[in-house]
This record gives sequence, C-alpha cells and structure tokens, in this order.
Amino acid sequence: MQFAVHEPAILAGTANAALAAAIADRLGLGLSPCRIERFPDGEIGVQLLAPVRHKTVFVVQPTSPPVNDHLIELLALIDACRRSAAARIVVVVPYFGYARADKRHRRREPITARMVAEILEAVGIDQLVTLDLHTPQIEGFFHVPVDSLTAVPVLSAAIQERLPERTVVVSPDSGRVRMATEYAHRLRLPLIVLHKQRQRGGETAITHVVGEACDRACLIIDDMIATGGTIVESAHALRDAGARPEILVAATHGLFVETAVTKLVEAGVRLVFTTDTVPQAGSDQLSLEVVSVAPLLASAVQRFVANESISRASSSSTACSRRTDR
Ligand code: R5P
Repeated sequence: MQFAVHEPAILAGTANAALAAAIADRLGLGLSPCRIERFPDGEIGVQLLAPVRHKTVFVVQPTSPPVNDHLIELLALIDACRRSAAARIVVVVPYFGYARADKRHRRREPITARMVAEILEAVGIDQLVTLDLHTPQIEGFFHVPVDSLTAVPVLSAAIQERLPERTVVVSPDSGRVRMATEYAHRLRLPLIVLHKQRQRGGETAITHVVGEACDRACLIIDDMIATGGTIVESAHALRDAGARPEILVAATHGLFVETAVTKLVEAGVRLVFTTDTVPQAGSDQLSLEVVSVAPLLASAVQRFVANESISRASSSSTACSRRTDR
C-alpha cells in the first residue's frame, strides 16, 4: 500500500476491537497499541502506547451500548491523539449512537445527536466515517466532512441467496422508504410501506399497509434493531394483511437489547441478516447471518489515505465475509 503524506495508524476502542483488527488486517497494518481502563469510580482512563505524531489516525469505535461509556472512551482517545500531535484524526463510528435523537418530538427535549456532533468536533476530529446513519440530516450537524457509507449492497448480496419465492421488501415506516427502495431495486422485488403513527403517550402503532402483502413472504428492512419492537409490530401487521408466515429481516445495526431476540422469535421471524458494526454474540434461538463490514470500512480508509473519494467505497465494495449462527 502506498501512503500519501501522512502514515496511517488504526486505533481501537473497546466497543468493537475485533472489527478494528479486521480493518487493520485488510490494510496490512497492526492496531496501534493503547491502554484503556475503567477506574473503580466508573471513570475511563486511556493511554496511547505508541507515538502517533504526524500520522493520520483512524479511531474505530461504534457508540453502541453502553452508549455513554463508549462515547466518552472515544472522546478520550481523540483527545489523546490530538495532544500527541496526530496530523489528522478520522473517527470511524460504524454505529452512531443517539442518531435517533435527531429532532425534537416533544417540547423541552434536547437534540442529542447534534450535541454529540458538537462534542466530537470540539475535541478535535477532522472527519467522520459512519455507516447507514439513521437520518441523512445528521451530516448537517457537523462542520467537518462526514462520509456515511451503506451496507445495503453487501447485505443484499447475502440475502439474494436465501430469498423465498414471492418475497416483498417492507419498509417499517416512512423514514426507511429510501433504504427499502434500494433493497427492492437490488433484489428486483416489489415494495410495501407500513404507515406508523405516534399515538397518545408516545406509543406507536401501524395503521396502514401500503402495497400488496397477501400470500407474500416478507423481508422487513431497517437501519437497526434495538428492542425488536418495530420488527414485531411490523410482522403482526403484515400477517393481518394476509402475508405468509415467512418473515425475514435485514438491519445494518443489530443491537438486540433487552429481550429483543425472544420477541423476534416469538413473532415468527425466521432469519435476520445484520452486520458486525456492533459485536454479534450469536444466538441459539434466532437464525442470524452476520455480514462483515470490515472490507467496506478498510476500503474507505484506504481511499482516504490515497486522497480518493470515500463514498465510492460503498458502491464499489460488495465483497464481504459472512458468519451464520444456527
Ligand atoms: C426507528 O425510526 C428506527 O429506524 C428503528 O426502526 C427503531 O429505532 C428500532 O428500534 P426497536 O428495535 O427498539 O423498535
């Protein structure tokens, strides 16, 4: 690999060190060593164990649960790099926590995604690389360049081999229509959009199924699965509209918090395609196909170092490595 002006270094936080190592490995680099510790009072300590002076440092850290710990750790790593005279600091945040707090739903609420953007910039990032951001407007919260890549091509390639007959792509709400359209286009399938409405007390309910679900297998897509509530609600609405019991799901970020796995299994979800933006432990109950985004992110890093357009990494990279649990 040819290095442009500044030699690259890859640093990993503790949120997904395996992904960082896989990225470094694909670039023929080792991870730059650092020590990260938790003190008894809950504070986080960080020390870089190798110089980063005049290097372009890529700090790899999804801000996945525990979100606040992983965020503070990321900020401490950035500050350590800045104070150690790194030439450029690029944060690779494959899953951007707080992205759903991108607007105010009720009075007297914060816009936390914007607050996170401001803190990252205040600490000193030069660029952000992320994946399937919840909403594109988050890019506008930053003054520095943001590259939001997408895992849709690599997930579509994996899904293609496992599609039941007469499948339809389902967007669980209006916010996911663009992503669902991209899946439908790549898989050459029709599209259904569910209409989700906020009810009294902040609860949501699916009130309309827009499109033909009758006698169809369904592929519900989403940017993320947290508690599984959105997918479960969607599955019920689709069955009520006459869909077949075969429910497949594709979501870039598989957080699976609380009892998400049990809820998905009970709702009859047959197979979930996700990526390793956050570590996947696997499950005895749920069939999970995990597509690695390491090739995609490594390609983005390589393009950055070569001063080429990063956004092209998404469209050009369909190479992926996969793991199937169960
Ligand atoms: C909502 O706008 C998001 O795109 C996801 O549908 C949602 O956040 C997933 O969360 P959960 O799994 O808890 O329903």
